[in-house]
Amino acid sequence: MNEEELIKKAYEAQQFSYSPYSGFQVGAALLAKSGKVYTGCNIENAAFSPTNCAERTAFFKAVSEGEKEFAAIAIVGNKKDAPPEEWEFCTPCGVCRQVMLEFVNPEEFCIYSGKGNDVKTFTLKELLPESFSPGMVK
Ligand code: THU
Repeated sequence: MNEEELIKKAYEAQQFSYSPYSGFQVGAALLAKSGKVYTGCNIENAAFSPTNCAERTAFFKAVSEGEKEFAAIAIVGNKKDAPPEEWEFCTPCGVCRQVMLEFVNPEEFCIYSGKGNDVKTFTLKELLPESFSPGMVK
């Protein structure tokens, strides 16, 4: 599974975004080291704070099915019906970065942010430097 294929899966998951409040539709596709892909979308809530981001949906689906090792995640996001020229690279929010850190090696785990056919690649370490990490508590 290469990054283009993972981005395609993120776009497929984006279709299921439940985002009646923000209208911002996010899709994610998480590649486990087992080779299996877990997709996720954002799921909003009238009370706002229970909203779950696409990335966390994907992680929680995977972990709840026994996966604990992950290679990469692809993320796409844009306002509903926005024309391609208005799309942006969607990078994970701070809470999702912290959730990722719980399960991955931040120097190896890759985050692919897609915008149409363009991809920006980051490691988690780049997006969450000087992090509060599981090793500090365990
Ligand atoms: N959102 C995500 O799903 N992932 C991100 O990386 C950023 C934000 C969602 C949360 C909310 O439903 C909407 O996008 C607007 O913030």
